[in-house]
Amino acid sequence: MTLSGKRILLIIGGGIAAYKSLDLIRRLRERGASVRCVMTAAATEFVTPLSVGALTADHVFIELFDRQDEHDVGHIRLSREADIIVVTPATADLMAKLASGLANDLGSTVLLATDKKVLMAPAMNPKMWSHPATRRNHAQLENDGIVFVGPNRGEMAERGEAGAGRMAEPLEIVAAVEALLDSRPKPLAGKKIIVTSGPTHEPIDPVRYIANRSSGKQGHAIAAALAALGADVRLVSGPVTIPDPAGVKTIHVERAEEMRDAVEQLLPADAAVFVAAVADWRTADAAGQKIKKVAGKGPPSLTMVENPDILATVGHHKKRPYLVVGFAAETQEVLKNAEAKLKKKGADFIVANDVGPAGTSKGGVMGGDRNRVKIVSKAGVEEWPEMGKDEVATRLADLIADKLRTTVV
Ligand code: CTP
Repeated sequence: MTLSGKRILLIIGGGIAAYKSLDLIRRLRERGASVRCVMTAAATEFVTPLSVGALTADHVFIELFDRQDEHDVGHIRLSREADIIVVTPATADLMAKLASGLANDLGSTVLLATDKKVLMAPAMNPKMWSHPATRRNHAQLENDGIVFVGPNRGEMAERGEAGAGRMAEPLEIVAAVEALLDSRPKPLAGKKIIVTSGPTHEPIDPVRYIANRSSGKQGHAIAAALAALGADVRLVSGPVTIPDPAGVKTIHVERAEEMRDAVEQLLPADAAVFVAAVADWRTADAAGQKIKKVAGKGPPSLTMVENPDILATVGHHKKRPYLVVGFAAETQEVLKNAEAKLKKKGADFIVANDVGPAGTSKGGVMGGDRNRVKIVSKAGVEEWPEMGKDEVATRLADLIADKLRTTVV
């Protein structure tokens, strides 16, 4: 039971995603945590205090000025007698209140009165999420140390609406809670580490682009594993459908050049891990208008130019991080190619994986959940058995912690 004995204060906000909080309560309790709930007035429009109380097996707190509740527990005790406060869904309203220090109901008062870690799982319409006011509040709250999980991209409850704004799934929130309450040693505390992940999209015209099969699973897992060891992780991600890892500052980009710029702006750093499957080429000139089929003219030919190699740029940079780790996705001569990349790109380690010949998905490496890698460095080659991408991430994070520990950076 990973959360055995942990006390979780769950603030349920007023949004359609409130229903997922019911499942979250069960998931937290089956891992040994006790869950106490505060509901905003709006939340009670979406789920009933009766359901919440039945699932928490505890009193449900709603009113700030409830004489009995204040006498029995009080909002200060409520916020202090918890190991962590989790807000699901974190509505635009709840975020705005905390960002500006407003406390006009029990939920917002508890959030202001606490000295504990706060995890927010936002959920709102994509337009609300991308509104400059919500962007400002999000940045402010991150600065204040609030940790976010999600929102994910996808279909909204409103018909026909899609985009970033879906609340993270209960198990993703549980994982974020576990990571935040993890009291194991943090060997990477104070270390800034850049990770690239996902594919890049190189536009052909406004509706078409060149992409690859990368899902971002391995890169995101590495970012999460490094954060779990206490690192200040900056993840630069190409377009992916998986959520931003909790506790990791994520910058979203589309094209290789954008990824290079974002990474260079993040320097200096103690280490950088290049997991992204960056497109090697882009079109010389993306068309401003959709390229039309013209009868008798045949297919258009695309002129390609080489993209910047981000790993090589950083591997030979004047602000080169102490440790530079690259990946090598190969379909043949895995070791030979990895060794060549180590030298050419100025990396300390290359994590080589055999992705299999074209048209196959060898062990489903690209997009799958498992990986079999070889760690190539000047010191030689270490072969790891096939394992889950999460385990590859954990072992790699341990290796990085080990390398950074043995040096004063
Ligand atoms: N990489 C990068 N920028 C690029 C291309 C690759 O940062 N423009 C990084 C990847 O993130 C990875 C490593 O370089 O860490 C190896 O990428 P890979 O695609 O396997 O190698 P390539 O350099 O593309 O070489 P080749 O196409 O010859 O296999």
